[in-house]
Amino acid sequence: MILVTGASGQLGRLVIEELLQRVDASEIIAAARDVKKIEDLGQRGVQLRTLDYADASGIPAALEGVTRLLLISSSEVGQRLAQHKNVIEAAAKTGLELLAYTSILHADTTPLPLGNEHKATEALIKVSGIPYTLLRNGWYTENYTLAAGMAVAHGAVIGCAGEGKIASAARADYAKAAAVVLTSPVQSGAVYELAGDEAYTLSELAATISEVSGKAVAYVNMSEAEYEQALLGAGLPDFVAKLLSESDTGASKGGLFDESKTLSRLIGEATTPLKACVKAALQG
Ligand SMILES: NC(=O)c1ccc[n+]([C@@H]2O[C@H](COP(=O)([O-])OP(=O)(O)OC[C@H]3O[C@@H](n4cnc5c(N)ncnc54)[C@H](OP(=O)(O)O)[C@@H]3O)[C@@H](O)[C@H]2O)c1
Repeated sequence: MILVTGASGQLGRLVIEELLQRVDASEIIAAARDVKKIEDLGQRGVQLRTLDYADASGIPAALEGVTRLLLISSSEVGQRLAQHKNVIEAAAKTGLELLAYTSILHADTTPLPLGNEHKATEALIKVSGIPYTLLRNGWYTENYTLAAGMAVAHGAVIGCAGEGKIASAARADYAKAAAVVLTSPVQSGAVYELAGDEAYTLSELAATISEVSGKAVAYVNMSEAEYEQALLGAGLPDFVAKLLSESDTGASKGGLFDESKTLSRLIGEATTPLKACVKAALQG
C-alpha cells in the first residue's frame, strides 16, 4: 500500500492523480490532517486516513499496512522538523520498504534559509534505518506564474533575484516524479536533484509574460529589504514576505539553478515549459 501525506495539498493531490494512472485505487492511501478535504478521493476508491504531522500519537495507526510512504514536507515553516520527526519515528517502527521525502534542490548546499529544515529532516531519515529516496524538488514555476496577472496589470515583475537563473518546473512535473519513484523498484539511498529543463532569469520571466499577454512587462530588481516591503505592501503575511524575499536572494546566488535534467529523465518527458505555465496562469 502506498500512502501519500499532505494529500489535501496541491502537490499531494497531483501525486494521487499520477498514482491513479499507475496502480489501482485500492493500493493508494491518501492521508491528510482533515480528511473532509479529500472526500472526493475516497469516492474514487482511494483509502483515506487522518494523519496530522503534529499529532505523534495518531501517526502509527495511519501507517498501518503501508509499504511505501511519501512524506510531503509540511507547509508549516518553522515547525516542520518536529513534525517530520514524528512521522519518521513512527515509520521507523513499521518495516517500510520505502520512505520518499520531498526535500529542496541541493539541500546540502542551498543558500536558501528554507533549506535548513529540509537538511535536518534528511539527516533524520538517513539515521532512521528506513530505505529512502530523497526527491529534492526545485522551485515550482507556479510560485512565479501565480502573480503573472498582477505583473501584467502593473507592467512589472518585481523581485531581488538579480541575474540568478531559476530552473523551476511545474508542480505536476514533480508529482509525476514522486509517482514514478513510488511505483518503481526501490533504489534505497537515491537522491534526485529535481529541476526544470529550462532555466530563466526574472528578466526573462517578465519577457515571457510580456510575449504571452501582449502587454509590456519589465523586471524591476530590488534589494531584499525593498522586495520584502513591497510584498508586505501587497498584503502578504510577514513570514511569507520574508520567505519569498530570502528565497529570491538565494536564487540570485544560484540556489534555484540546476542543469542536470534529472527530473525529465526520471519522468521520461520534458518538463512543462515556462511559457505554458504563464499561459495557464493568465487564462485563469
Ligand atoms: N518547491 C517549491 O517551490 C515549494 C513551494 C511551496 C511549498 N513547498 C513545499 O512543498 C510542500 C507541498 O507543496 P504544496 O504546493 O502542495 O503546498 P500546499 O498546497 O500548501 O499543501 C501543504 C500540505 O501540507 C499539509 N500540512 C500542513 N501541516 C500539516 C500537518 N500538521 N499535518 C498534516 N498535513 C499538514 C497541508 O494540509 P492542510 O490542507 O490541512 O493545510 C497540505 O495538505 C509544502 O508543504 C512545502 O513544504 C515547496
